[in-house]
Amino acid sequence: MSKEDIYILGIESSCDDTAAAILKNDEVLSNCIANQEIHKKYGGVVPELASRAHLSNIIPVVSQAFDEANINPGMLSAIAFTKGPGLIGSLLVGTEFSKALGLSLNIPIIEVNHMQAHLLVHYIKSNKKSPDFPFLGVTISGGHTQFVIVEDYLKMNIIGETLDDAIGEAFDKCGKIIGLDYPAGPEIDKLAKEGDCEKFDFPIPKVEGFNISYSGTKTAFMNFINNSTLKDSDFIQKNKIDICASIQKNLIDNLILKIRYASKMKSLKRIVIGGGVSANSFLKDSLKLEENNWEIFIPPLNYTTDNAAMIGIVGYFKYLKGMFSDYNTIASPRLKFK
Ligand code: KG4
Ligand code: ZN
Repeated sequence: MSKEDIYILGIESSCDDTAAAILKNDEVLSNCIANQEIHKKYGGVVPELASRAHLSNIIPVVSQAFDEANINPGMLSAIAFTKGPGLIGSLLVGTEFSKALGLSLNIPIIEVNHMQAHLLVHYIKSNKKSPDFPFLGVTISGGHTQFVIVEDYLKMNIIGETLDDAIGEAFDKCGKIIGLDYPAGPEIDKLAKEGDCEKFDFPIPKVEGFNISYSGTKTAFMNFINNSTLKDSDFIQKNKIDICASIQKNLIDNLILKIRYASKMKSLKRIVIGGGVSANSFLKDSLKLEENNWEIFIPPLNYTTDNAAMIGIVGYFKYLKGMFSDYNTIASPRLKFK
């Protein structure tokens, strides 16, 4: 252990996954996660159940992170945790746990914005290449769809976002309508690979400027499925792969149109994607078609959905700048970028 090395424990508990990671500078030594299966049967995250599951998961996950990194708590330089945005009950578990551990070890704590972390995950050492600044950041998850001008590690400005549902939420809600388990995004992606994406046409909501909308598509989709199953009760079963391919194309096309617009208006050709939906294969294929126009960054698969390594890397950058939090900091469900 060199004296200059910085060891950060990252804690993520904003939604339904409890995650802990340990970083040595910008290198990930361990990245552990406990997924909460309980929400599957409810078709979405039940906040009360999520908080309870975080409470029982957090100590085992943190212990596992120390074991896998092969370091002991006394070596930590600081603890970074998700302050928001997210579900308040879930955030409270990670925040208060971090404060308690930080106090007992007498080390600084560092609050992290979850959405900022989805973009800065690209600066983890193992990435083949990290983006230069400035760039257009696109965060696409179950709770957010944002277009962000990123001028430096911690200098970010949201220029547009969804007016209603997030893109991941649209995937999950459309999946629920056709009977898929939560989260439906990965399943739609898988089924769509065999389907015809031109078979069914859904409208793309028209929104001025940098904002985007998804709830109209979801309503149109629901009406289409209801009407079709009235005519043929086996409609979903007979057409599942084509339905998945068609709705996926619509949701991704809507996003690509907005990225194109924002890229043009802001003269930014470096596009950096983050968040759970960046795992989507149709999105990756669509972005490939733009490779001549844009320099595109998509995170490796294990860093697309929620993870604690991304919280740790933001903690590292903030540590270098001495940006520590007060011990009376509180979780913030609607936290904005600073
Ligand atoms: O970033 P994330 O793990 O959690 C939030 O911060 O919300 O994103 C979760 C979202 C879910 O809506 C999930 O359905 C979606 O990401 N997702 C996908 C895929 N993998 C995860 N959506 C489409 N295609 C995928 N392959
Ligand atoms: Zn997320």
